[in-house]
Amino acid sequence: MPLPKAELHLHIEGTLEPELAFRLAARNGVVLPYADTEALREAYLFKDLQSFLNLYYELMTVLRTEQDFEDLANAYLARAAAQGVRHAEIFFDPQAHIARGVPMRTIVEGLWRALGRSTENHGMSTRLIMCFLRDESADSALETLEAARPHLDRIIGVGLDSAEVGHPPAKFREVYEMAADLGLRRVAHAGEEGPPAYITEALDLLGVERVDHGLRCMEDPDLVARLVRERIPLTLCPLSNVRLRAVDVLAEHPLRAMLEAGLLCTVNSDDPAYFGGYVADNYHAVRDALGLTKEQMRELARNSFRASFLEDDEDLRSR
Ligand code: HPA
Ligand code: ZN
Repeated sequence: MPLPKAELHLHIEGTLEPELAFRLAARNGVVLPYADTEALREAYLFKDLQSFLNLYYELMTVLRTEQDFEDLANAYLARAAAQGVRHAEIFFDPQAHIARGVPMRTIVEGLWRALGRSTENHGMSTRLIMCFLRDESADSALETLEAARPHLDRIIGVGLDSAEVGHPPAKFREVYEMAADLGLRRVAHAGEEGPPAYITEALDLLGVERVDHGLRCMEDPDLVARLVRERIPLTLCPLSNVRLRAVDVLAEHPLRAMLEAGLLCTVNSDDPAYFGGYVADNYHAVRDALGLTKEQMRELARNSFRASFLEDDEDLRSR
């Protein structure tokens, strides 16, 4: 039986498998510039974050209707449940859909048709986190938060993703303040491709409770000491780091050193349809490449629940 775990860093659009992308393209009359799923898979050779994002935004154009978002989420939930996921905090990128004319309501209600039934259908609890695209303007993020207001009963927090370098957290200070006033939880991608200073900014200026990736903290010992002291969780995504060339090979991934430094690390899949594995695949890959002990594997699973936004009485580990 797979280790029970929570998944805290997962972009729902990044779970769009080639087969579903072609099915939705046909259903919606969208023409994809690939002959078939095999030709599409050949495009999954990335040299950095941006080269991945180009394909990620291109493929998600097949998502148009509530039914599409529901089908996408149900496909993820089935795969995640089979990999031992008992709780998932799921990112979505509304700006990327709204810009194509898909209303916020269609996105949120479509996802909710699946997530609202995740306990009965898949034995999993779920939460939804709305991400702002950091390569869009701060005003666009504010408009997006405004558009989400009628749906805040479905959304527990905000995040920050897309192209990192040149788009420091400081740019989104105001929208994060508004999100906090609305009672939303706060996370942000930082230190994936961007410098350690972006992690510090995310903590100090955006008030994030958890850092997505945070990999590059290892370049700054004072920052590591702070993250350890303040028990700030990091949502690491090892297979993503290899595919996007943040690390050369998995054997050189700093996860083991990070655990040994006392950091509160979790392992997640990020965009599993693109990076070659869902969450248990990430656990197994780091175990094999880094020689993690059984106790370190259990620590990762334990950390995933500790770092989650579940309330204590909702903890699903023992179910
Ligand atoms: N990093 C930044 N933005 C993203 C990612 C990622 O790994 N996946 C989807 N959007
Ligand atoms: Zn991510």
